[in-house]
Amino acid sequence: MTATVFHDAEGGDRGGRASVPTNLDAFMKARYRFACDAIPAGSRVLGIGAGTGLSRDYLPGVELVDTDIVPTPWIDLVCDGQVLPFADGSFDAAVAMAVLHHLPFPLNGLKEIARVVREGGRVCIQEPHASLTLRALLAVFRHEHVDFSVNPFGTESSLSRQLGPDDGNNAIGDLLFADKGRFEQAVPQFKVVHHRFRHFLLYLNSGGLAGELFHVPLAQPILKMIRRMDDGLCGFAPGLFATCQEIVLERVRDSGA
Ligand SMILES: C[S@@+](CC[C@H](N)C(=O)[O-])C[C@H]1O[C@@H](n2cnc3c(N)ncnc32)[C@H](O)[C@@H]1O
Repeated sequence: MTATVFHDAEGGDRGGRASVPTNLDAFMKARYRFACDAIPAGSRVLGIGAGTGLSRDYLPGVELVDTDIVPTPWIDLVCDGQVLPFADGSFDAAVAMAVLHHLPFPLNGLKEIARVVREGGRVCIQEPHASLTLRALLAVFRHEHVDFSVNPFGTESSLSRQLGPDDGNNAIGDLLFADKGRFEQAVPQFKVVHHRFRHFLLYLNSGGLAGELFHVPLAQPILKMIRRMDDGLCGFAPGLFATCQEIVLERVRDSGA
């Protein structure tokens, strides 16, 4: 497979939704940019934990099969991301945006994804990064938790608390991907080909997925400047600023190997 350039500032996005407020649209484009770069147009892509279904707008040009454990009119199939009802190697790629930290057994989810994605395929993952900024947000909103005492590579549940269906452990991305060698040993079907910390002010000023949170509406050129500034800040001091991390895995060998 040829090397992929994961865009640092401009481009990389292939779409958007006209009805989405400008700030949120800019954030969603920044969020999906790495997936647009990693997954070629025309691919058959499995979406796990689709939620509001925004992948359809921000990852256009692919044949997306969107799934979630919660039924909604816009998904294709209701299923648990840890037990996927699809044949081995039946997808070219998969996206799991902000999902793994909601799974009691994220490693089971990853092994299932490895089973259904063909060799050479890409898996795009986004997870929270438990930076000071994210912890401050969680201290205010309290909808999800951070617990570094769990072991997502072990046999116990990674969710130490489940206040509601939306609760999740925001430490899971860090626990899974901080040590690339350990991750690749646990799931040898995958090689980590991209791992980057992202999203600070653009996220804080996005207004939330339903545009329901306080935000200052800004024009596109200013949002682009903020995106560039975020990339700099998150690269320089991820532990302070970055609220998310993006990971691209490449499927390197048969799950039976
Ligand atoms: C934080 S939302 C992310 C939604 C969407 N991917 C996005 O980035 O906007 C987490 C999603 O994971 C789904 N989810 C939770 N547990 C799941 C499971 N066991 N299997 C599949 N999806 C699950 C939830 O229903 C929810 O839609």
